[in-house]
Amino acid sequence: METVLLRTDHLTHAFGSGDTGIFDICLTVARDDFIVLAGKNGCGKTTLIRHFNGLLMPDNGRILLNGQDIQKDLTLARKKIGMVFQDPDTQIIADSVFDEIAFGPENLNMDREEINDKVSIALNMLDLSHLRDRNPATLSGGEKRRLAIAGILVMEPDLIIFDEPFANLDYPSILSLVKLCQKLHQSGHAIVMTTHDVAPVITLATKMMVMDKGRIKAEGDPVSLAPCLESYGVKNPFTPMAQAWAL
Ligand SMILES: Nc1ncnc2c1ncn2[C@@H]1O[C@H](COP(=O)(O)OP(=O)(O)O)[C@@H](O)[C@H]1O
Ligand SMILES: [Mg+2]
Repeated sequence: METVLLRTDHLTHAFGSGDTGIFDICLTVARDDFIVLAGKNGCGKTTLIRHFNGLLMPDNGRILLNGQDIQKDLTLARKKIGMVFQDPDTQIIADSVFDEIAFGPENLNMDREEINDKVSIALNMLDLSHLRDRNPATLSGGEKRRLAIAGILVMEPDLIIFDEPFANLDYPSILSLVKLCQKLHQSGHAIVMTTHDVAPVITLATKMMVMDKGRIKAEGDPVSLAPCLESYGVKNPFTPMAQAWAL
């Protein structure tokens, strides 16, 4: 039976007085979900996911994590829901790879030995052990992204959110990121991934939600929903490009 991890209840966040923002979003994320949240630029994907751990507050509606309103304990929500931002540079703050990963556990006042153990496991999982003493500013883009993920993983989150993870990545980097997401999913983390390009993950995701103009317009099995994507400005990965031009 599927267990609900996160639920949004009529979530609305309007920017200004117009029709920009997100409107009346009711969705659930199950504990074993890998959700691809598809939609063209500006449809509200980032705005929506930033509500999941309280980075943005709704005008209306609630976010329930394991049945409890996240407002009751935002620290818990931020521990249980990790967010990988589009640009890892905005996420990295420490002067060494080790300190960057240790930052979250230190804030939770874990003892030194426990922190060292957890950081070592995260370094290993993200293939960063050889870089533990490096200054993050000197890492490559791919290494920075792995570091950002390690800093989240060390908190043992139930849900990991990736916001447009494929932006600016070349093909090998996309493949290795997809494999990593698959590994994280298989090791028991729920995944929500926003993207305007569903091709790399459509056969991997357990569910797809399609957003347009701040609303969820379609939801279901990713491959079955693919034909509706083009009407919301998202490429159907099963349609050849030449055929898409003629649509
Ligand atoms: N802080 C803000 N103030 C005003 N408008 C915003 C703000 N953040 C986002 N928007 C607008 O809300 C809409 C949705 O943005 P966003 O959630 O970033 O879309 P997406 O992530 O799907 O590209 C866009 O029209 C964007 O310009
Ligand atoms: Mg966005």
